Amino acid sequence: MCGIVGAVAERNVVSILLEGLKRLEYRGYDSAGVAVLDAENQLIRMRRTGKVQELADAIAADPVKGFTGIAHTRWATHGGVTEANAHPHFSNERIAVVHNGIIENYQSLRETLRGAGYLFTSDTDTETIAHQVEHELQSTDSLLKAVQSAVSKFHGAYGTVVMDKQDPEKVVVARSGSPLVIGLGIDENFIASDQLALLPVTRRFIFLEEGDVAEITRTQVHIFDKDGNEVLRPVHDSDIEHDAGDKGGYRHYMLKEIHEQPTVVRNTLQDRLTQQGVDARIFGARAEGILKDVKHVQIVACGTSYHSGMTARYWLEQYANVSCNVEIASEFRYRKSFVHPNSLLVTISQSGETADTLAALRLAKDSGYMASMTICNVPGSSLVRESDLAFMTLAGAEIGVASTKAFTTQLTGLMMLTLALGQFNQMNEADHSKIVQAMHSLPAKLEETLALSDEIEKLAEEFADKNHSLFLGRGDQYPIAMEGALKLKEISYIHAEAYASGELKHGPLALIDDEMPVIVVAPNNELLEKLKSNVEEVRARGGIMYVFADKDARFESDDSMRVINLPHVDSIIAPIVYTIPLQLLSYYVAIIKGTDVDQPRNLAKSVTVE
Ligand code: G6P
Repeated sequence: MCGIVGAVAERNVVSILLEGLKRLEYRGYDSAGVAVLDAENQLIRMRRTGKVQELADAIAADPVKGFTGIAHTRWATHGGVTEANAHPHFSNERIAVVHNGIIENYQSLRETLRGAGYLFTSDTDTETIAHQVEHELQSTDSLLKAVQSAVSKFHGAYGTVVMDKQDPEKVVVARSGSPLVIGLGIDENFIASDQLALLPVTRRFIFLEEGDVAEITRTQVHIFDKDGNEVLRPVHDSDIEHDAGDKGGYRHYMLKEIHEQPTVVRNTLQDRLTQQGVDARIFGARAEGILKDVKHVQIVACGTSYHSGMTARYWLEQYANVSCNVEIASEFRYRKSFVHPNSLLVTISQSGETADTLAALRLAKDSGYMASMTICNVPGSSLVRESDLAFMTLAGAEIGVASTKAFTTQLTGLMMLTLALGQFNQMNEADHSKIVQAMHSLPAKLEETLALSDEIEKLAEEFADKNHSLFLGRGDQYPIAMEGALKLKEISYIHAEAYASGELKHGPLALIDDEMPVIVVAPNNELLEKLKSNVEEVRARGGIMYVFADKDARFESDDSMRVINLPHVDSIIAPIVYTIPLQLLSYYVAIIKGTDVDQPRNLAKSVTVE
């Protein structure tokens, strides 16, 4: 979703801002803009709809220079995709503002400000921030105080950066609901919505807390909490690789990230899974004291992360002897749900900033859960900071909007959670050692599965002219079918639905014909024979199937069925392994269709608004 970069320096900051915006492109956006204070302290702005490169080209043709600047990638919420709606927004050529989030009461503020003589030139909620800050500056000469006073009038979510041409060597930033991170340089400081944007210029970061307002100059950073008290926030040294934003020779980030999975799953297991299993403390210093009393797990997540939670439910109930519910965060947060005794709330999130998941965590804090845990990929993110326990997936930066390596590392973490909880709940010893052995074999099995890439690339040709598809799985492969369907629709725009195959005869069978490919995930597990019966139901109605099957499952290719054999794996890790061919299939179908694989239309990587 929207991205923010800002800088106060002694050098021209335009290239830093543009590089930052490029590094935030992965979040999804539809327009981009930059504003700087030039040598005469005049506000200069350049905005374009479309890609950051178009903005960069426009600036190259008509160079802009300044030492203090802000920049933004916009993902439209209020008002269409137009240059006038792109950020930065101005108030009277004095104040410039960029903003992530939504100011919910912007209409009433707008009316009041109009009444006070402010002229609105966009349809956005953000422009209200610019005018409100200027309005506040009528009663104070401090930009900091003006921003503090303005934000006290806002309802909704914001991460915002404000520049004032009458106070040119600083920016004032405010965070409530949308993340902001301050990057500390030497005689220069920066601000961004995501540390990735600033990696070329610094590795030292301060994560702002909810309600913080900060004044940033070249040499100083002053942070004030929601009550206006000056506070010190810890400085974190980032170990994210500087080249995390490079494609590493692959055509797309998504393909690179698919191929990174054996390595990142290995990293996620390393030093955490031993031959004896796992130590509860891998979930945090206080984990042992908490996990030993857990009898129920409530998982809350969105999108791909929700699918990893769905998979974990099968594992937690089957092996760890704890009950488990899984719910989409946007539903969970708006209904009254029953809190089981000794219940642990587990959020799952790649970004750690998904608005609905974060809201669910905050809501759960006062609802009687014994503790909260997050399975998350971004250190220092809101979910990590606000949860009692955190397990970091070590997937590295995930840039492709369609999540791949985050998913398989989440599953890896969730399997380790199953082991940890199982140890306190009479887990069957044979299951325990089977899981430990299977998990140790996982990186190698993922590598073997990736070798199917060429075969799947050819197979993809058969999908390119299709408009609909059906994904089938059973048991812990049902969520994998859901994830496969999500990947296909996200990046190839082919309508894809997933069903637990036992449910076929209750409706979806009516859809079967030779125009709708049916994709089946068929590892050799205890449900294989049931699945084979479902496959026959499809065959009898003239359906065309693509079956990803264990070598030992004895499926034969024929006129109505194409079988792609996967390496034999223990059924425990099969959900993680069978994810790979479905990711590859979506990728190669999208390539044939010529879609924007890494930034599919209308989607955002990190959904920081409701
Ligand atoms: C967006 C992304 C998905 C992701 C979902 C949840 O929709 O496009 O790939 O699964 O958000 O994000 P999270 O960061 O919480 O895992």
